[in-house]
Amino acid sequence: MTTPSPAIAAARTLLTEVTGREPAGVWSAPGRVNLIGEHTDYNEGYVLPFAIPHRTYAAAALREDARIRVTSTFADEPVEVALAELDEIFPTLSAAPAVPEWSAYALGVAWALRALRPDATTRGLDIAIASDVPVGAGLSSSAAIEGAVASALNELWTLDLDPVTLAQAGRRAENEAVGAPTGIMDQMASMLGRADAATFIDCRSLEAQSVPTGFTPAGLEVLVIDTQVKHSHSTGGYRERRDACERGAALLGIPSLRDASVDDLPRAAELMDDVTFRRVRHVVTENQRVLDTVHTLAEQGPRAIGDLLVASHASMRDDFEISVDELDLAVETALANGAVGARMTGGGFGGAAIALVAHDAVTPIAYAVTRAFADAGYGEPHIFTVRPSDGPRRDA
Ligand code: GLA
Repeated sequence: MTTPSPAIAAARTLLTEVTGREPAGVWSAPGRVNLIGEHTDYNEGYVLPFAIPHRTYAAAALREDARIRVTSTFADEPVEVALAELDEIFPTLSAAPAVPEWSAYALGVAWALRALRPDATTRGLDIAIASDVPVGAGLSSSAAIEGAVASALNELWTLDLDPVTLAQAGRRAENEAVGAPTGIMDQMASMLGRADAATFIDCRSLEAQSVPTGFTPAGLEVLVIDTQVKHSHSTGGYRERRDACERGAALLGIPSLRDASVDDLPRAAELMDDVTFRRVRHVVTENQRVLDTVHTLAEQGPRAIGDLLVASHASMRDDFEISVDELDLAVETALANGAVGARMTGGGFGGAAIALVAHDAVTPIAYAVTRAFADAGYGEPHIFTVRPSDGPRRDA
């Protein structure tokens, strides 16, 4: 692997500064990009994300008492509460939690794990977090925190929980402690990451399978174009899209849009208003594109998936309406300069696009996108390559 991230030392040092003690260990979990399958997870459909080399690190140590303290390099002050108080802090979906949002990811994981194993989760802990996953870029910095903390607690509390259960605890933290109504893709992608593979997930059964991407042997790289347009899923558009999907499923008389296929679209068009129909059409066709991508990767290799990526972007731009001008420009410019495929990735309303590009085209395409952004008067994008990477691990 590459040289260790400075964030490992940063997490260790921070823990020692705050507690005066050495951590028992440092655990980490990755961010992710989604290759394809957007807004399908909460519709119980299919996704194909992969973990990226950028990770979040949690240095942690047990305490003698029953309190939990979290601190982070991106916050001014630690947050400390009694473990027993977590049930009062995170009681309902609707109430705003009485702790700063950044701390709710870590504290929410502790809360969710305590609900699973009350007997084994009585010792207090100190946790210090440092990360090299860009925040607000649509690369699941929050799932990386949840995964790192879940991994630390799983070991220190000797819970022995499997990665899918830890992913579910992370999602519960996100949904109920932070209040972001997201699906389970990000946590699963982080917990189940494997080098040079994407994770094909059935978000209904939570069955998952590693799918080799074959990017490196094919001479391909994945370019991340972080537009620097910040987004948040605890507010606004994300929830509206979820509501539209639920409305569409109800009108079709099915439990979720997972149960509709492309053949049902003419009937859907009759049953609902245009906006709801287009939301439904995105989800239904996107599920099919995920299946087609898995099949195409296996049968023809990664150079053949470009059209599916492009169709996915068009569907998000036109039908689901979650793209922004910066993302569209990133995708168009990458394609015009020879990318095999490109699409926005993650929840949308900002964040990042990915482009699948030949190794030799990385620099010219990054340059072309940077120039196009400058010409359009947009802020400078942050552009880098990522390789599908491993899931959580203990680093120290
Ligand atoms: C965000 C959410 C995920 C998923 C994507 C869209 O990343 O956290 O659960 O819904 O948006 O695919």
